[in-house]
Amino acid sequence: MLTADDKKLIQQTWDKRVGAPRGAGGGLFITYPQTKTYFPHFDLTRGSDQVRNHGKKVVNALTSAVKNMDNLSQALSELSNLHAYNLRVDPVNFKLLSQCFQVVLAVNLGKDYTPEVHAAFDKFLSAVAAVLAEKYR
Ligand code: HEM
Repeated sequence: MLTADDKKLIQQTWDKRVGAPRGAGGGLFITYPQTKTYFPHFDLTRGSDQVRNHGKKVVNALTSAVKNMDNLSQALSELSNLHAYNLRVDPVNFKLLSQCFQVVLAVNLGKDYTPEVHAAFDKFLSAVAAVLAEKYR
């Protein structure tokens, strides 16, 4: 459950650093190469147009999630359908992406990556992943 403090930290960090987590996707493919199997139709070379465009889409979706933290299920309902029914992404992959996201956040925030920020994003990303995977159950 996200507390009021968690939400404030996430909003502040996001406003300051929007786009910073874009590197997380590239990190995902390098650190967990098995995730590349979902993107057979992509040019997965680092920084390719497809990877960058996709990163932008994911960041936009997360921006909308940040704006709708009290209503994630509704805000991400379309994306949930897509990932569950069309793409059939195994839910374990959301955890892997969250890990990569945290690493990029830490590198970008430096000393501002406090334990509180880490914990708040952990909860937030778990909540997003839960919504994207909820249609599996
Ligand atoms: C597509 C968001 C996690 C695989 C997308 C799109 C968005 C998105 C916004 C584009 C939808 C569109 O074009 O209308 C997210 C978010 C995630 C997440 C917010 C978690 C925080 C994952 C994971 C995988 C994955 C973990 C698999 C490893 C895909 C694939 C596509 C896609 C294969 C379709 C790409 C294409 O053909 O253009 N996702 N995603 N997603 N996602 Fe995710």
